[in-house]
Amino acid sequence: MEEQQVKFMPRIGDKAPDFEAITTTGNLKFSDYNKNSWVVLFSHPADFTPVCTTEMSAFAEEKSFFAQRNTKLMGLSIDSIHSHLAWVNNVKEKTGVYFSFPIIADLDMKVSKLYGMLHDNESSTAAVRAVFFIDPKGTIRLIMYYPLNVGRNMEEIKRALVALQTADECKCALPVNWKVGEKAIVPPPKTLEEMEERINNTEYEMIDFYLAKKEIGVLV
Ligand code: BEZ
Repeated sequence: MEEQQVKFMPRIGDKAPDFEAITTTGNLKFSDYNKNSWVVLFSHPADFTPVCTTEMSAFAEEKSFFAQRNTKLMGLSIDSIHSHLAWVNNVKEKTGVYFSFPIIADLDMKVSKLYGMLHDNESSTAAVRAVFFIDPKGTIRLIMYYPLNVGRNMEEIKRALVALQTADECKCALPVNWKVGEKAIVPPPKTLEEMEERINNTEYEMIDFYLAKKEIGVLV
């Protein structure tokens, strides 16, 4: 049987690996960039490709959404800084959309490998479409991977960010398809006493003692 090589993949809950990189806004140290703010770090397979252009444009167009939620953007691909600059300029000239957030020129694949963005059976030279949500403490909180031929969903990226921030704020969990303004899940009771309390609770929408929801309003 062929031996499977175990590749390094950061996981949810891990400290985001630190790195220094050449980017379109200058040389950056990730831990400095991440200081006191969330970072959405995302890779794209290649500059001057159609799906990537639509995705990068969607990120750029949501600049104020992310800024309002204390979140910085950072792109990456295994292309040179010259290619990045030419692409940013080309998209600006053709569509008026400007990628003002830093895009890492990861020619030596250092960051792609550090973040498990290279999935060899998909491509050994281009990063897959990864999205890492990293909180202000530098912890990876959510990871998405998409293949080369399917673009990401910006609505889901925004929803996921707001859900993470809301769950932190209310110290609760959020149910399937949760959207801003909807109820949150109250953590299930862990003792018989808590269960009794829960059963007698009149404030929550209660399906059963372990599945109760409460109003949280709009927290972020
Ligand atoms: C694209 O962004 O269009 C693309 C990039 C790499 C492979 C396939 C599609």
